[in-house]
Amino acid sequence: MVSDLELRKKFQVKEFPRSAKYDPYWVHKHEMGPNVLWLTEALCQRMELKPGMRVLDLGCGTAMSSIFLAKEYGVQVWAIDLWIRASENFGRICDEGVEDTVFPIHAEARQLPFADEFFDAIVSLDSFHYYGTDVHYLEFYLLKFLKRGGEIGMISPASPIEIPSPFPEHLDDTWYWMNSVEWWQNHWERCPGLEVKLAELLPGGWELWVRWHEFLNLFETRNRPGETSELEDLMADQGRYLGFVRMIGHRKEIGP
Ligand SMILES: C[S@@+](CC[C@H](N)C(=O)[O-])C[C@H]1O[C@@H](n2cnc3c(N)ncnc32)[C@H](O)[C@@H]1O
Repeated sequence: MVSDLELRKKFQVKEFPRSAKYDPYWVHKHEMGPNVLWLTEALCQRMELKPGMRVLDLGCGTAMSSIFLAKEYGVQVWAIDLWIRASENFGRICDEGVEDTVFPIHAEARQLPFADEFFDAIVSLDSFHYYGTDVHYLEFYLLKFLKRGGEIGMISPASPIEIPSPFPEHLDDTWYWMNSVEWWQNHWERCPGLEVKLAELLPGGWELWVRWHEFLNLFETRNRPGETSELEDLMADQGRYLGFVRMIGHRKEIGP
């Protein structure tokens, strides 16, 4: 039986003091992947969010990132997700007392119900790779919802270098969807309306991913039992091909 102290120690990371204040049991209960609070804080450390801004949280899952954004940065958040019902997220949002600033919407990322240039910022945590790899998506669709000069940022799993084909022995082909950091950089840089400000491997990303699994293993049950093999893959990989990309760009003042 693991102690509460041990669990909190694993959850608290010195690089992420804002996340450390949150309840690890709450995060565990609603998690859908590597700690979204760490990822959100890692992204926001490099973005320029100001109180009152309108922020789109794309693919927010259970809206923990949206709640975190509203509480920590005083922004208004439109929490969009496809797999999780808006009513479910609304319950969580009300429980956290941020129903005046976090607005849950059930929507497909390619059919967003917003006015052009509505958002001051767009964020996406562990989600952009599901819909954002299409060459037309950012350039001809998503960017129009961002005001000129506004920032878009995302963190998603990515490999430090392209995974060779055939795959290295320690990785099976379930990792087929991982693109490299360079791939993401080129993907965003081909968008003429966007100035890419940051495209990098998230420092310490592999370590965070491992730590996240060690945290999950402290609980008696796994939300998704099938994912236990992810830790084995991470350990065998040692960060050669598994990590995260952190991308931030500005919509240009002029142009498309
Ligand atoms: C791995 S989960 C991450 C959820 C959350 N951001 C987190 O990190 O906890 C991926 C999320 O992307 C969302 N998603 C995937 N495809 C989407 C699409 N086409 N439109 C909107 N959301 C999508 C899913 O609904 C899911 O909640």
